[in-house]
Amino acid sequence: MTKLLLKKERIIKVEGRKVVLSKFEKHLVDENKDFGTQFGIIKKSDLKKEKIKVGKEEFIIIEPCFLDYYKQIKRLAQIITLKDIGAIITNTGINNNSIILEAGTGSAGLSCFLAKIANKIISYDIHKEHQKVALENIKRLSIKNIELKEGNIFNYKEITEKDIDVFVLDVTEPWKAEKTAKKVLKKGGFLVSYNPNINQVQKFVNSLSENFLYEKTIEIIEREWTVKDKILRPKMKDIGHTGFLTFSRRIK
Ligand SMILES: C[S@@+](CC[C@H](N)C(=O)[O-])C[C@H]1O[C@@H](n2cnc3c(N)ncnc32)[C@H](O)[C@@H]1O
Repeated sequence: MTKLLLKKERIIKVEGRKVVLSKFEKHLVDENKDFGTQFGIIKKSDLKKEKIKVGKEEFIIIEPCFLDYYKQIKRLAQIITLKDIGAIITNTGINNNSIILEAGTGSAGLSCFLAKIANKIISYDIHKEHQKVALENIKRLSIKNIELKEGNIFNYKEITEKDIDVFVLDVTEPWKAEKTAKKVLKKGGFLVSYNPNINQVQKFVNSLSENFLYEKTIEIIEREWTVKDKILRPKMKDIGHTGFLTFSRRIK
């Protein structure tokens, strides 16, 4: 069994100024082992409690959820971020009946998240090495509804799936997968392409045949705010670009 340990930031005031004595911490820990912190050891018997003091620090002990485990997955290639996964789900209506085809698998970041919502995920990758990491992540999260397949998604003759609800591409040349998309998607099914560069998007959209109705290309910008005492403003870090999401539907 695993527990989630959370510790608040500890701040004191010295001559009217705030001094941070210790930072926020979050740890996933094995309930059957003592856990060492920089403030001292937490005994395994104490991990059964709801909170525990170590020196001057207080740790809250709760049950972890899927997201806590998900955030620990191994990342070989760049994984699709949570903000972009959210947009894929909400713009295609993925639900517990959905059958999803995906390429490439990479570290299975997208596949693992979608697997918790959808009926089944079939994921292709051209590199077996990447699928080793993907398989590790899938096993660690105890996910049973992902089927990994080795293969080139552009070789439409070798891709045998049919009646797919949503086909997600995270490959550098998505325009080469049009014939595969036409073959695998059911009529009305969604073709989604994730691309970091807008010239990739342009080439992909221009390559779509009359079999597809182009819907839109979006970029999700997530801006985190600092909300602390009188400080109420966007965090002072760059707004990070991840990728563009292009949505179209098979109509013929
Ligand atoms: C950026 S990673 C995908 C990351 C994944 N979406 C995630 O969230 O973890 C891109 C993957 O696509 C694979 N790939 C590239 N071209 C491919 C192709 N033609 N067919 C199948 N997989 C391909 C690469 O081997 C690589 O593992």
